[in-house]
Amino acid sequence: MLPTIEWRGEYIRMIDQRKIPAKLEWYICRGYKDVIKAIRVMVIRGAPAIGVAAAMGLALGAKVIRTNSYASFERQFRKMAEEMTRARPTAVNLKWAVDRMGLLVQRMAGVPVDQIKKALLWESEKILAEDIDINRRIGQHGLKLVPKESTILTHCNAGSLATGGYGTALGVIRAAHEAGKKVEVIADETRPWLQGLRLTAFELMQDNIPVTVIADSAAGYLMRQRRIDLVITGADRIAVNGDVANKIGTYQVAVLAKENGIPFYVAAPLSTIDLKIRSGEMIPVEEREGREIYCFGKRQVGPVGVNAFNPAFDITPGKYVKAIITEQGLIRPPYLREIREIFHRK
Ligand code: MRU
Repeated sequence: MLPTIEWRGEYIRMIDQRKIPAKLEWYICRGYKDVIKAIRVMVIRGAPAIGVAAAMGLALGAKVIRTNSYASFERQFRKMAEEMTRARPTAVNLKWAVDRMGLLVQRMAGVPVDQIKKALLWESEKILAEDIDINRRIGQHGLKLVPKESTILTHCNAGSLATGGYGTALGVIRAAHEAGKKVEVIADETRPWLQGLRLTAFELMQDNIPVTVIADSAAGYLMRQRRIDLVITGADRIAVNGDVANKIGTYQVAVLAKENGIPFYVAAPLSTIDLKIRSGEMIPVEEREGREIYCFGKRQVGPVGVNAFNPAFDITPGKYVKAIITEQGLIRPPYLREIREIFHRK
């Protein structure tokens, strides 16, 4: 599998996910504004991946700040960090990565600016390497939930492309496959960006993991026919009460799973849990342009002038989530208590 994002000396390159599977093309970022644009227009997407991109973007931007004064460097860095945070609002991993880079700058107060720039670059590489390691650990913990033979439904793409590598929900599926379990995947196509059809199916086919794509609206039908054993999705932000923000359509999948007695799991790193957010209603949900709904690619398919509403994420109440699979193990209800405990131990 190609890396989702990487340093290439003076610049960053990332796979242009808008073009997969038709083309495997690199998108080059030479400045932090290129990274912000790449996140906004979905060249790179998926909560952990945009966190990594934001960290690298800030290191890239820091490189060209022309000053020897710490105070001036810090001011310019902070301005850039604020801009980066606004690139997309829902995935907390982006803000988490920006804050981590900002904290490093603060801790290095008084250190020569050139050294801070180098440290930011290393920190961004560390965030990427840690993310891949975390995903492998999520995979190992999640593996235990997967029966020896099972059909798993997933929504959107929480795979290698959505992270530094390996994936969260797809990390669990990969780990189960690597452990010799006979897993099959049902991938919701995931309108309107078709991350399930274009990215999840692409990744799984590369790994020779059997995958079948369905229209989003077919999930309930398959569940009722007992053709799904479990559901695993990723998350963009998790509130301390266990409410989960994830790709639009996740909520209805979770409700259908509950109705049909099918376990619904969320796989996510601990950095996706936002300790400042008490419940799902507090999570900002990105609304994207209506044209993503009434156009298919560049082609308008809806009537000219039609109204469209395009929330990119929804909130699944914690009561529908059987467990959250993290790098430190499973978190089970009651989430409020268990989440506090896991962070207390950290
Ligand atoms: O709009 P996207 O493609 O960035 O949405 C991605 C998702 O909703 C993923 O499920 C989530 O970020 C988890 S990725 C490991």
